[in-house]
Amino acid sequence: MTVPPEINWETLRALAREASTRAYAPYSKVSVGAAALCASGELITGSNVENASYGLTLCAECSLVSDLARHQGGRLVAASIVAGDGLPIAPCGRCRQLLFEFGGADLLIDGGDGREPQRLRELLPDAFGPDDLPVRRNA
Ligand code: THU
Repeated sequence: MTVPPEINWETLRALAREASTRAYAPYSKVSVGAAALCASGELITGSNVENASYGLTLCAECSLVSDLARHQGGRLVAASIVAGDGLPIAPCGRCRQLLFEFGGADLLIDGGDGREPQRLRELLPDAFGPDDLPVRRNA
């Protein structure tokens, strides 16, 4: 069995904060940065990227999972998502689903200083995911 990489929440938070400074958020003025530890041990990041056509906005988590694919880091183990004030921000519903695809129910989400991290299963209970597809297809 492979040993999971050790989670350093301070490092993850610092990377997420740094990523929030690279956000493109001229419309909402809510800069978001995300950082995650991958099963490979690699650390990846993402930032939100807005658009004048507001609905096309990419959340920081979208950019994070793109970085994951680019690094071929395997599964997500732990993630920190912060706003420009440096404090954790609740991942939006769509991004909970995005994170579920690559981290599953056990993925740990930073709760911030003095707060226990939460498993994604607590943030997205009874999630629909890749395992549902083969058993729910039409005959
Ligand atoms: N945002 C994220 O990047 N991730 C989330 O999980 C919540 C919201 C961004 C999208 C938009 O650019 C800004 O925060 C305000 O909604």
